Amino acid sequence: MKSYIVGNWKLNFTVGEASIYLHKLQKKIPNYRDVEVIVAPSALALQTLSLQIDRHKMKLAAQNAYHRDYGAFTGEISFSQLRGIADYCIIGHSERRYIFREDDKVIQKKVEAAVRNKITPILCVGETESERAFGETADVIRDQVIGGLAEVSEEDIDKVIIAYEPVWAISSTKSAKLAAPDEIAEVVKLIRKILKDAYGEKTAENVPILFGGSVNPSNAGAYLTVPGVNGLLVGGSSLILTEFADIIEVAKRVKS
Ligand code: 13P
Repeated sequence: MKSYIVGNWKLNFTVGEASIYLHKLQKKIPNYRDVEVIVAPSALALQTLSLQIDRHKMKLAAQNAYHRDYGAFTGEISFSQLRGIADYCIIGHSERRYIFREDDKVIQKKVEAAVRNKITPILCVGETESERAFGETADVIRDQVIGGLAEVSEEDIDKVIIAYEPVWAISSTKSAKLAAPDEIAEVVKLIRKILKDAYGEKTAENVPILFGGSVNPSNAGAYLTVPGVNGLLVGGSSLILTEFADIIEVAKRVKS
């Protein structure tokens, strides 16, 4: 399986800044066949970047979209509008869950709409600090994985990516802590078991599982070698071109 390195730019960069960043990154990195590089700019920059992106080198992800294709939904963009522009969409990021109150029902509709529109959903799951402290991690992960994938058929499950992002490890979280590789391995194993129970052994192995939470060039290697981890979802460090390029380089090294 390929490695996936996803840069989630969140609410950062103007369209101009995003365009310059992409230009420089494309010049800096070679075309790595076994590392899929994906950047997720703000929705406003997607169209511009889609016209300049070298799709052999990298792909675009949206950070969010609405599950209905069209209609009276002021302020929203749809997965059908993203067709031909973005190949991926981050869905259920903890910032969407907790700041914008998206629950598993909303997220499951978005995952369904993404798959229907041939956009690969990157479904984010992860427990908060207090859920972890109360020993609820496994239950939270199970609910979020099963809830998020409820509308995905056996035929489509290999068109989905899952990202495990413990909320307490995200750099913008107050007093963020680094997740230990052992702890990540355990949750990733649980996610594969949930997939296996729902979709069968073979399929469970084919779903890429990424890790996210304070990833940077110095810890990327350790996280990429956690058993079962197929890539990284990077926030803060992806905003710094040299750091993101270094993480891609680490992924390439780990792969070979
Ligand atoms: P950081 O890498 O800044 O911790 O962000 C992680 C994240 O939320 C990526 O989606």
